[in-house]
Amino acid sequence: MQKKRYALCGLSNRAVFHFAMPLSGKNHKGGTNFNGQSELVSILDVDETRVKRFLEQTGISSAYYNAKQFDRMVTETHPDVILVATPDYSHCEYIVRGLEKKCDVIVEKPMVINCRQIREVQAAEKKSGRQIRVAFNYRYTPTHKKLKRLILEGKLGKIINVEFVYNLDTFHGASYFYRWNRERSKSGGLNIHKCCHHFDLVNWFLDDMPETVFAFGALNYYGPHGALRPRDKKGRPLDPIEERKRCPYFQKHYAGKIDPDEDSPSTGWDIFKLGYHVQYPHGKKRYIYDDAIDIEDTYSANVKYSKGTLLNYSCNFSTPWEGYILAMNGTRGRIELSHHSNPDPTGLTAPAEEKSVITFFPLFGGKEEIVIPPVKGGHGGADFVIQNDLFGAPSRESRELQLTAGSEDGLRSVALGEAVMRSIKTRRPIDIRKLLAGR
Ligand SMILES: NC(=O)c1ccc[n+]([C@@H]2O[C@H](COP(=O)([O-])OP(=O)(O)OC[C@H]3O[C@@H](n4cnc5c(N)ncnc54)[C@H](O)[C@@H]3O)[C@@H](O)[C@H]2O)c1
Repeated sequence: MQKKRYALCGLSNRAVFHFAMPLSGKNHKGGTNFNGQSELVSILDVDETRVKRFLEQTGISSAYYNAKQFDRMVTETHPDVILVATPDYSHCEYIVRGLEKKCDVIVEKPMVINCRQIREVQAAEKKSGRQIRVAFNYRYTPTHKKLKRLILEGKLGKIINVEFVYNLDTFHGASYFYRWNRERSKSGGLNIHKCCHHFDLVNWFLDDMPETVFAFGALNYYGPHGALRPRDKKGRPLDPIEERKRCPYFQKHYAGKIDPDEDSPSTGWDIFKLGYHVQYPHGKKRYIYDDAIDIEDTYSANVKYSKGTLLNYSCNFSTPWEGYILAMNGTRGRIELSHHSNPDPTGLTAPAEEKSVITFFPLFGGKEEIVIPPVKGGHGGADFVIQNDLFGAPSRESRELQLTAGSEDGLRSVALGEAVMRSIKTRRPIDIRKLLAGR
C-alpha cells in the first residue's frame, strides 16, 4: 500500500502532539499511530532550530523548509495533504497555496481569522476540487458526542434556546496574554481563536447557521489597565521584575518555578523544550500587562440562528475554576451539562481525571442523569479520536454524528467570531450573511 504523504506547516506545540508524533509512529500512550499508512515527509516553519531540535530528539527524518520555500517543499516532497498548524493569521496563505498545488488540506481551528480570508479559501477550494478539513477536536469528547446523539434522537424536541457559559481559569486564561494569541492581527482575538471551539459546538449541535449577533466585550484583567496589575503608591506600573513578583497571577502559578527576572511565563506544554527562537526571540520579555495586547478577555453575546434558536453565550478568561455550563431548552425538555476541567501543564495526564454529568429534565416527569466516565488523552479524550478521522477513515460513529468538519463548518464559527468583535466595536447587531458577503 502506498503511504499517504503529509507536509506540515508550523511545528507548533499543537502540531507536535497532534500531527507529527502520531503520523511518525510516536504517539503518546493510548493514542493510535498512523505510520503504517502515512508519512510525514516535510516540515515548514520560520524556526529552523526548533524543527531541527525536534527531528534530533525524536529521530523523525522529515525534510525541513523555511517559510519562503513552500513551493519547493511541494515540488521536492510531493505531499498529498498539507497540514496547517501555524499561528491563525497565516492559515489562509498555507491553505490557499496547498489547494493551488492540488493537495487536500487539514487545518487547525480556527480555519482563518476573518470573513475576507473565508472568501479566499472558499474560492480556492472550489477551483482546486480538493478538500479542506478543519480539526474541530472539541466535538469529539464523549460528552459532546453523547449530547449530539441525544439531540439527534429527538430527546429535546425542537431546540428553543441555548445557554452557554465558558470560563477559563487564571492559569489557562492568562496564558493567551503572553503568547501570540494576544494580538488581533495574529489570532483574530479570542472571540475567534478560542470562542470558535464553542461556536462550532453550538452550530454543530443545532446543525444551523448563526444569523444575527449582538455582543459586548472588554479587556478587564489583562493589558496595561489590568484590574489586578500591581502599581506604586502613585498608581504607576512597577518595573517588570517587581511587577511579576507582586502580581497575583505570577505568584499563584509561577513563583518559585521561574525567575521573574529571566523568563517569560510558560504554559509548560512545550515538553520537548524546543523553544521558539523566531516567534519569541530571546531577551524580549512578554507579560500579561503588555501594551501589545489589543483583544478582549470577557465576552457576552446573544445570537439568533436561522431556524430561530437563540443562544446566550459568555466567556471569561480569568476565573477561579475552568469549565463550562451548557444548557438547552427544547419543546420536550431541558438538558444541563456542567463540566469542570483541569488545564494540564503537560497536556498529557490531567484531562483523564475529567468527568461530566448530563442531566435531562423532561418537560413533564422525573429527571435522568447520564454520567460520562473519564477517558484518556488531551482535550477530554477528543484528540485521540479525531486523529482516527483525520488520518484514517471516518468511523461509523463519526458519520452518524456528522463529526468531521469541513470548510463550511470552519466558516460558520469564524464568521460568528468576527461578528461578535464587530458588534462590540460598533454597538450594533451584526448580520452574518452580509459580513460573509463582504458588505
Ligand atoms: N484544536 C485545539 O484544541 C488547539 C489547541 C491549541 C492550538 N490549536 C491551534 O494550533 C495552531 C498552533 O497553535 P500553538 O499554540 O500550538 O502554536 P505555537 O505557538 O506552539 O507554535 C507556532 C509555530 O508556528 C511557527 N510559525 C510562526 N509563524 C509562522 C509562519 N508565518 N509560517 C510558518 N511557521 C510559523 C512557529 O515558529 C512555531 O513553531 C493554532 O492555529 C491554534 O489555534 C488548536
